[in-house]
Amino acid sequence: MDRIRIIGGARLNGSIPISGAKNAALPLMIASLLTSEGLTLENVPRLADITALLRILSNHGVDYSIDGKRPGAVQTTGRTLHLRAKDIVDTTAPYNLVSTMRASFWVIAPLLARMGEAKVSLPGGCAIGTRPVDLLLMALEKLGASIDIDAGYVIAKAPKGLIGGEIDFPKVTVGGTHTALMAASLAHGHTLIKNAAREPEIVDLADCLIKMGAKIKGAGTSRIEIEGVARLGGARHAVLPDRIETGTYAIAAAMAGGDVLLEGARPELLQSALDIIASTGAEITSTNEGIRVRRNGSGILPADISTAPFPGFPTDLQAQFMALMTRAGGVSRITETIFENRFMHVQELARFGAKIRLEDDAAIVTGVKTLKGAPVMATDLRASVSLVIAALAAEGETIVHRVYHLDRGFEHLEQKLVDCGAQVERLAGQG
Ligand code: UD1
Repeated sequence: MDRIRIIGGARLNGSIPISGAKNAALPLMIASLLTSEGLTLENVPRLADITALLRILSNHGVDYSIDGKRPGAVQTTGRTLHLRAKDIVDTTAPYNLVSTMRASFWVIAPLLARMGEAKVSLPGGCAIGTRPVDLLLMALEKLGASIDIDAGYVIAKAPKGLIGGEIDFPKVTVGGTHTALMAASLAHGHTLIKNAAREPEIVDLADCLIKMGAKIKGAGTSRIEIEGVARLGGARHAVLPDRIETGTYAIAAAMAGGDVLLEGARPELLQSALDIIASTGAEITSTNEGIRVRRNGSGILPADISTAPFPGFPTDLQAQFMALMTRAGGVSRITETIFENRFMHVQELARFGAKIRLEDDAAIVTGVKTLKGAPVMATDLRASVSLVIAALAAEGETIVHRVYHLDRGFEHLEQKLVDCGAQVERLAGQG
């Protein structure tokens, strides 16, 4: 397994191109199952999760090709992916494929809507607390599906097609909203989704579905209305920039100090996080090219945050922000409201000398003057990058083990940091 070696202390100066959003690309790719025509997605990031989903989609009968894979092709910009599910050859998504990534469970919606049946293994993904699928299944039931769970598989059936209905989510769920949107687009009649997730990735999926011929109103608000159509067609769509990657590098720049331009980043996708990062002493400005983050000399100020559904502070930036607070001049309180048990990075951050105490759903972080490099282990996707952030500001050498978690969600991480002057290198195949 690869490891990453980081020598801390260098400031970050330069430009970091922001990739297409993983969490938008995944549902967009899954939407290709809804039509027999081609779906072309631009700005798709090169990530292990994307490759894993391509394997799953192929298994259902999706043909795909990727532009820019030729030797010598530009490797720094997002790729264009052509997907076509002319015929669905298999409506089963097996355990060995689905268990690696939770979002792959969402194939259940288009398979069911188009083919009237789907058999999908219960999901895996990051070990961040129990992540049930009850609300996704509730949504499909509201659209007339029958659901059975047998030997680790969900078996969903709607032999006469799905029927529009009212879905009132008791809790905001991104996956539930994606699933409901895809299923309702091909259902007979009208669907109302109440308490829908408002994340930008939901809007991106809805925009693409509309290009494919879906009739959707209200995406981006908590009330979405869909008028089902008999069939959807092909489309071309560019994946929106990754707001979590943007926030991660903004926090990295705030932590290491320096002056970084996040190229192509859109501030409105993460305004609450940018406001908080700015309150810690970083200077954040929007430019025509993206977002500029600077911190020169001044200390890091403490800040309290509580994660929340969009437009609140994203849970996917919680670990990174905690890393920043380990060096703040005071005490901060970080409350996690979305996922239980999303504090596995705490014990790893402690290896750098961070002072963090857990109290129910909150972490109390007392900033320290210096962190010291250490061997640490990546535990989940976002937690792993928090260790990289800590390492950038730590004295001496850090080795991050199990970096495959990083490869799931951060495109060219080492290269992007090295280009800004950080001392980061990948050590292949050991430890
Ligand atoms: C998505 C994101 C993930 C992010 C999360 C919250 C992708 C690929 N993943 O995950 O990076 O951290 O949104 O912003 O886009 N819940 C239930 N029952 C369900 C579904 C969810 O109780 O059937 C709960 C979850 O346990 C969690 C909360 O609802 O407490 C929110 O989860 P959800 O928004 O569904 O997360 P994901 O879509 O899995």
